[in-house]
Amino acid sequence: MTQKIKKAIFPVAGMGTRFLPATKASPKEMLPIVDKPLIQYAVEEAVAAGITELVFITGRNKRSIEDHFDKAYELETELEMRNKHKLLQLAQDILPPHVSCLYIRQAEALGLGHAVLCAQPAVGNEPFAVILADDLMDSEPGALAQMVKLYEQQHTSILGVENVPREATGSYGIVETALQDNGVQRVSSIVEKPHPDVAPSTLAVVGRYILTPRIFDKLKTVQPGAGGEIQLTDGIAALMKDESVLALPLEGTRYDCGSKLGYLKATVNFGLKHPETRQEFSAFLAENPL
Ligand code: UTP
Repeated sequence: MTQKIKKAIFPVAGMGTRFLPATKASPKEMLPIVDKPLIQYAVEEAVAAGITELVFITGRNKRSIEDHFDKAYELETELEMRNKHKLLQLAQDILPPHVSCLYIRQAEALGLGHAVLCAQPAVGNEPFAVILADDLMDSEPGALAQMVKLYEQQHTSILGVENVPREATGSYGIVETALQDNGVQRVSSIVEKPHPDVAPSTLAVVGRYILTPRIFDKLKTVQPGAGGEIQLTDGIAALMKDESVLALPLEGTRYDCGSKLGYLKATVNFGLKHPETRQEFSAFLAENPL
């Protein structure tokens, strides 16, 4: 399988229960970090990695995501009439013109594996990326670009991974890896949300995947696993029986913006870097030590 990675799936149909009540009527992927919603950071990371087709797996209450990437006629006309050209550009430059969007509805939130399977009609027989927007990555080059680079050498599925504290293994898919002769880590086992006492390692899969299309056949046969959901992890475990799956430790900082604490950390650190806020915000933090 030597095709280029052109398509990325963004599963955004989850319930976002850890962020209630903010996620009662609007999706967690629209929570802003300073001035951009999480989903826009994820899309920018994908576009920087060469992705040209974005496939969103949406559910109820996700209309605002479609609106965000659509043309906003009223807003644009209004800004134009008021000669607010800079703001107009911000509203218009959400996506480069060569990038297209497709929306597929996941009627029931049956799990991440099921969400990925919903994308099969749009993806077809090509390798593709999956990005979970609530894992916000701050790195240069971007996390997906790091993975695409490895894919172009290895032409097989790749999981973005990170070492986590042992007490946190119950929140992640955890992999065991073996170092190949070429210095690449091959996944030898994967398990969803293991208890720290039995976790095979502390190497956690974070929300970035490159997968070959064979994963769809595997997901069709996967039974509900941890939490009663159809887990992508179980599909990957089945895929590993047929193909090699690699793990790539990602360079950069990850913020788990599906949790309140991760979201706050991202807000502070991005606020300290944003050209419009960094000076006054860092002065504010210096004046108000904990
Ligand atoms: P999470 O495990 O973070 O679940 O999903 P969640 O529902 O979004 O959030 P919490 O745990 O209730 O707070 C991981 C990713 O998979 C997507 C979510 O949108 C998120 O990006 N997902 C999950 C789906 O698209 N469909 C599903 O059925 C489940």
